[in-house]
Amino acid sequence: MNYRHAFHAGSFADCMKHALLVWLIDALQRKPAPIFVLDTHAGAGRYDLTAGPAQRTGEWRQGIDRLLDRPPPALGRYLGFIRTLGLYPGSPTLVRAMLRPDDRLACCELQPDDLFELRRLFARDPQVAVHQRDAWEALPGLLPPKERRGLVLIDPPFENPDEFADLAAGLASAHARWRTGVLAAWYPIKHRAPVRGFHAAMQQTGIRDIVAAELCLREPLLPDRLNGCGLLVVNPPFLFEREAPPILQAQLERVGRKERGAYAAVTRIADE
Ligand SMILES: C[S@@+](CC[C@H](N)C(=O)[O-])C[C@H]1O[C@@H](n2cnc3c(N)ncnc32)[C@H](O)[C@@H]1O
Repeated sequence: MNYRHAFHAGSFADCMKHALLVWLIDALQRKPAPIFVLDTHAGAGRYDLTAGPAQRTGEWRQGIDRLLDRPPPALGRYLGFIRTLGLYPGSPTLVRAMLRPDDRLACCELQPDDLFELRRLFARDPQVAVHQRDAWEALPGLLPPKERRGLVLIDPPFENPDEFADLAAGLASAHARWRTGVLAAWYPIKHRAPVRGFHAAMQQTGIRDIVAAELCLREPLLPDRLNGCGLLVVNPPFLFEREAPPILQAQLERVGRKERGAYAAVTRIADE
C-alpha cells in the first residue's frame, strides 16, 4: 500500500466527494431516526494543506482553493464546514461534525500512520469507532448495523487494476446485508472503458435504484490522468437527482478550464 491521501487532500476530486457527502448526510437526517455511517477507507481524518505532502503536490490549489472565495450557493453548506473545521477535513471529520447525539460513525483504515492520526482524532469519542480493518472484509463484518438508516462511503485508493471489480463486489455485498442503507462509492474517471464496465457490472448485480454523479474536467481520453471522478449512489435519498447537479456544476465552473468534453451530470444506472 503506497497510497497516502495527504498528497491529494482538498483536490477537486476530494471536494466533489465531500460536497456530495455533506448533502447525503443532510438528507438522511431529515428524519429523526438515528443514522449509522461506515467509512470503509477513512484516511487520516484531516490534513494540513500548507505543509508536507499537500503542499508538495499543491493539488488543493486546483480544488478547494478555487471554491472558497465568494462561495457558490450550491456549495454553501459544504464550504461552511471547511471554514469552521480548521485543517482540511477528510470524510470522517466531516461526518463527525454532522452527527447528532444518537448517530454513529465507524471508520476503517489500514495505513499505520493514517490509522494513528485517526485514532488520535477520535480518542474517547463514544460516537466514533476506528477499526484497523480491511475495507472489503469490514463490509460484511460491520453490516447490517442496528440502525435502519445510514450510509456507507467506499472510497478506495484505486492503486490496482482490480479496484473497480472489488468496488462492484463490495457494493453488492453491502447491499445484500443492508438493503435500506445508502451506499456511496467514489471512482476515478481516467478513460471511459473501465467506468462503463463498472456501471455495467452494477447493472448486472440486479440492485435497483442506482445513480452516478460525475464531474469531468475534460474528455476522458488520457488514461494516465485523473480527468474526472464519480460517486455512484445506491438508494439515493429523495431529491438527489435534482440537487446534486447544481453542486457538481458549481464546482465545474470554478475548477474546470472550459476544456473540450467537460461535464457535470447525474445519470441513472438502474431504475427504482
Ligand atoms: C482515498 S483515501 C480515503 C480518503 C477519505 N475517505 C476522505 O475522503 O477523506 C483511501 C484510504 O484507504 C486506505 N486503504 C487502502 N486500502 C484499504 C483497505 N483494503 N482497507 C481499508 N483502508 C484501505 C488508504 O490507506 C487511504 O488512506
